[in-house]
Amino acid sequence: MNNLKKKLNKFLDRNEQLVCVTCYDASFSKIFDDTHVDIVLVGDSLGMVIQGNSNTHSVTMNDILYHVSCVTKHKNNFLLMADMPKNSYEDEESAYINAKILVDHKVDIVKIEYKNEHIEILKELVSKSIPVCAHIGLLPQYALEAEDIRIYGKNKVEANQILQQAMTLEKIGVDIILLECVDSEISKKITNSVKIPVIGIGSGTYCNGQVQVIYDLIGISENPPKFSKNYLKNTGSIKDAIKDFYNYVKSIKN
Ligand code: KIV
Repeated sequence: MNNLKKKLNKFLDRNEQLVCVTCYDASFSKIFDDTHVDIVLVGDSLGMVIQGNSNTHSVTMNDILYHVSCVTKHKNNFLLMADMPKNSYEDEESAYINAKILVDHKVDIVKIEYKNEHIEILKELVSKSIPVCAHIGLLPQYALEAEDIRIYGKNKVEANQILQQAMTLEKIGVDIILLECVDSEISKKITNSVKIPVIGIGSGTYCNGQVQVIYDLIGISENPPKFSKNYLKNTGSIKDAIKDFYNYVKSIKN
C-alpha cells in the first residue's frame, strides 16, 4: 500500500472526516496549513472565482500550474489535490503527460471529472502510479445548460448509474471519489459500498469528508450554492471561519 493510501486509510479507520477546501493562492494556503485542513484543492473553479468567467471550461493547465505554484509556497501539512482542466485528459497519453506535470509540481492527487468514456484514461493513470480522485455526479466541465446544474441520482436509474460508477472506480484503483450534488441517499449508499474515501459537496453529510469552495465559506461568492454557509458572519476573521468549518466537518459522525 502506498503512503497516500495509508494516510487516507487512517481517516477511515478512525472514522474521522476529511476537511477539504479550494485554494488558489499563498495567503490562503498558509491559513489552511496553519489550521490543519486535510486536503487543499486547486480547483478549476478558479475559472469562475478568480478569472470571473461563467464556467470552468476555459481553464488551462498553465492556469492550474500557476495557482499550484502559489499554493505550494506553504505546503507543509495538507495533501494537495489539483484539477485536471477540461481538455487536459483527452486520451491516455495527454492525461498521463499532464497528470505527471502536476505530480512533479508537488500535487499529491489529481482530480478528474469522470464520465464512463474515461475509464481507460483512469486505468492508465492508476497503472502509472498517479494518485487519482474521480469526481462524479454534477460535472461542471461538461455542464452546458442551466438544467445540468441539479442534484444527480434522484431517480432510480440515475442513482444506480452513479453507484455503479463509484464501484467501478474503486475497482480500478482510484484513491478518492468526490461526489458533487449527488442525492444524499445515494451518497450514503456509495460511502457504505466502497472502501476508499468519499468526499462530498452538496451531497449530504453521509460521506467520509466535505469539500467547499473557499469563497463560498467566507461569503464573497456572488451566487453561492444553497448548500454553502458563510462562516465569516459569526466569526469575524478568515482563520476563525476556517476553524469553524473544520470543527463542523470533524464533528460529523456517521
Ligand atoms: O473546482 C472546484 O472547486 C471543484 C469543487 C467544486 C469540488 O471541483
